[in-house]
Amino acid sequence: MNNNNYNRPTNRPVQNGARPAQNGTRPTQNGRPVQNGARPIQNGRPTQSPKPPKKKMRFHPNKDGIMAIIVLLLIVAIAITVVVCVIKAITNAINSGKTDDTTVSTVDTSTTEITTEATTILTDLATTAPVVGAWNEGYVLQNYSNTKVNEGDLILVNYNYEYTFPSTMEKKIDSLYHKEGHNSAYVLGTDTRLNTSIVHNLAQMLTAMKTANIVTLSNGYNLQVASGYRTYSYQNELYNKAVANGTEGYSAIAGHSEHHTGLAFDIKVFYKAADGKTATYDLRAAEQDWILANCANYGFILRYPAEKVDITKILEESWHFRYVGVPHAKYITENAICLEEYIDLLREKHTYGKSEPLSVMANAKEYLVYFVPASVESDVTAVTVPASGSYTVSGNNVDGFIVTVEK
Ligand code: DAL
Ligand code: ZN
Repeated sequence: MNNNNYNRPTNRPVQNGARPAQNGTRPTQNGRPVQNGARPIQNGRPTQSPKPPKKKMRFHPNKDGIMAIIVLLLIVAIAITVVVCVIKAITNAINSGKTDDTTVSTVDTSTTEITTEATTILTDLATTAPVVGAWNEGYVLQNYSNTKVNEGDLILVNYNYEYTFPSTMEKKIDSLYHKEGHNSAYVLGTDTRLNTSIVHNLAQMLTAMKTANIVTLSNGYNLQVASGYRTYSYQNELYNKAVANGTEGYSAIAGHSEHHTGLAFDIKVFYKAADGKTATYDLRAAEQDWILANCANYGFILRYPAEKVDITKILEESWHFRYVGVPHAKYITENAICLEEYIDLLREKHTYGKSEPLSVMANAKEYLVYFVPASVESDVTAVTVPASGSYTVSGNNVDGFIVTVEK
């Protein structure tokens, strides 16, 4: 390939780019010798007088052009890269500014959350942390689901606080028939059902009551557990009947009856004559006196005394008793308060961490009683209880737990 920009004449073919021979006889063109470097004759005319060959740098337009283009392209590419990088850097700077704002915001939020949590922990500590050397030394925290607020011997069920029918308590309801204490009182077949946790204490009390009232409770007279556990629909039936009779002052609306818990019962006197004649009476004076004087020893209270009607919203019922547990029944009875007042007293004066527990003497034992409010921050409440020994935890069906510790 000829790389020159002019033709180098030759009388010999040039192959593969080989230069024609220049040694010896010079080649001629049109019969005239061609001097070395002389311009060739073109189109039959002589060229201008030959000039000495100009010694100049070799320039290879194609090769150098390509190189120039490549260099140019490289420069452009570098320039574009630089511009892109600069744009990216600026964009990043702007974005990083925005991200910083977000981060600050996030940090602020989480800080708030942590602060809230810390406050909660501090609040919990204030109400649950055992104080070294105090009465609660060695106590520990135990978690209780807040659903347990609706369960236990001390739940308040009244016109204001509905019973939730927790499945665990329903399972405890059983017929009194043929159970311990069945013979201590007349029961209406298998329909008389109670919370099994109170059967032992009830049987003990009925037996003692019969023995103490042997004169009245003989010759066909017997104690009768007239009503125990009631379903929602049965209570609804009774309430509707009471409304029809104008006696609704003695009846709770369905869902608000203590009878749903199986912890309450009505006690009457049942009479069956030799000829089969039957009758039911309210407790008579001697029986009433005995039960009012002794029921607390078995953990029961008269639930609707005449003087508490404005609080309970139920007219006086000499027959309706409720199990709350011995120390509580003792305190309630001896202080002539009702369950509503007792629940309020524990919250107002014996909340754990704020004030001392209530001390109650019962059956020659001391009990400490205190209230732990249910957590409002969590579904679980950390309740302080003794690490060992005998204690119970009951919900109050309102807003927390009542701990009873046997010292
Ligand atoms: N007689 C009581 C108040 C009840 O109906 O539950
Ligand atoms: Zn009743």
